[in-house]
Amino acid sequence: MTTTKIVTFTGSKGGVGKTTILFNFASWLASQNKKVLLIDADFQASLSSTFNVITNQNTLLDVFIGSQPEVRQVAENIDLIPASPNLDQVETLIQGKMFREYVLLNWMNKNKDVIYSYDYVLIDTHPEFSMLTKNTIAVSDAVIVPLEPSEYGFTQLKNQFELRMAEFREASIDPRTNASDIDAKVYFIGSKARSTTTSSRLFKEELESIPNNIGVIKFSEIMPTSTFTKVAVTNMTADKLRSYKGYKDHLVEEFTKLTQTIDNI
Ligand SMILES: Nc1ncnc2c1ncn2[C@@H]1O[C@H](COP(=O)(O)OP(=O)(O)OP(=O)(O)O)[C@@H](O)[C@H]1O
Ligand SMILES: [Mg+2]
Repeated sequence: MTTTKIVTFTGSKGGVGKTTILFNFASWLASQNKKVLLIDADFQASLSSTFNVITNQNTLLDVFIGSQPEVRQVAENIDLIPASPNLDQVETLIQGKMFREYVLLNWMNKNKDVIYSYDYVLIDTHPEFSMLTKNTIAVSDAVIVPLEPSEYGFTQLKNQFELRMAEFREASIDPRTNASDIDAKVYFIGSKARSTTTSSRLFKEELESIPNNIGVIKFSEIMPTSTFTKVAVTNMTADKLRSYKGYKDHLVEEFTKLTQTIDNI
C-alpha cells in the first residue's frame, strides 16, 4: 500500500520536454504492468490532450474548489486526472487561504485508498514555480527537472530552481519540529541532447558534473511523433519505428535508470 511513488516533472523553463518524457515514461511503466496515475497540473492541458481528454468538467480544478475530480482510465494501467484551461484560476482561488500549498495534499490524504492503489503517480506542471506547482511538489517524493542544451549553459536555470526549492523548503518549516514539510528530492535529467556537436559534448560534460543527474534523453524526431500520433515510442510497432529502434532501446535504458532512482527513495 505505501510503496506508491509520487513524482512531479517541473522546472524553470518551458518547452524542455516535460510532457513528452512523462507521456513516454508513463506508457513504458504501464507496459511493465505498473499501475500509473497521471495528474495534469498544467492549464495548457498538453498531457490530457495526448490522451484525448479535453474537458472543463471534473478536472484537477475540482480539488481546489472542494469538489471531486474524475479519475479517468485513459489506457491500460493508466488513469488520468485531467487539467482544464480554467485551471489557471487556482492561483487566485487559493491566494488568501491558510495552508494554500497543501490543498492537493489534503485531498490526497482524504483519498488515500485511490492514491495508494497505484505504483506511480506522475504529475505534469506548467513552467512557473506557481502555487499550483508548489502544491504538486508538496505531495511528491521526487521532483524531476529536465534540462536542455542551451548556448548559455543550463547552470543558471538549475541554480534558479534549486534556490526556489530551498526557499519553499525554508518557508515550510514546522516550528514545532524544526523540519520542513517539503521533503521531495530533486533530480535533473538531460533532454533533447544532440549527439554530434561540440556544444552537445559540453552539455553532457556539464550534466555529468551534477551529482543528482540521472541521465540524458537524446534528441530525436520520433519524440514529437509520439505525442502527435499519441503512441509512445516504446509502444510503436517495428514498422513505425524503422530506423528508430536504437532510440527505443536508449529510452528504455534511461527510463530504467529513472525508475531505479525513484524506487530507491
Ligand atoms: N527528446 C526529444 N527530441 C526531440 N524533440 C523533443 C524531445 N523531447 C521533447 N521534444 C519536443 O520539444 C517540444 C517541447 O516539448 P514538451 O511540450 O514536452 O515540453 P514541456 O517542457 O512540457 O513544455 P511546457 O513547459 O510548455 O509544458 C515539443 O515540440 C516536443 O515534441
Ligand atoms: Mg508540458
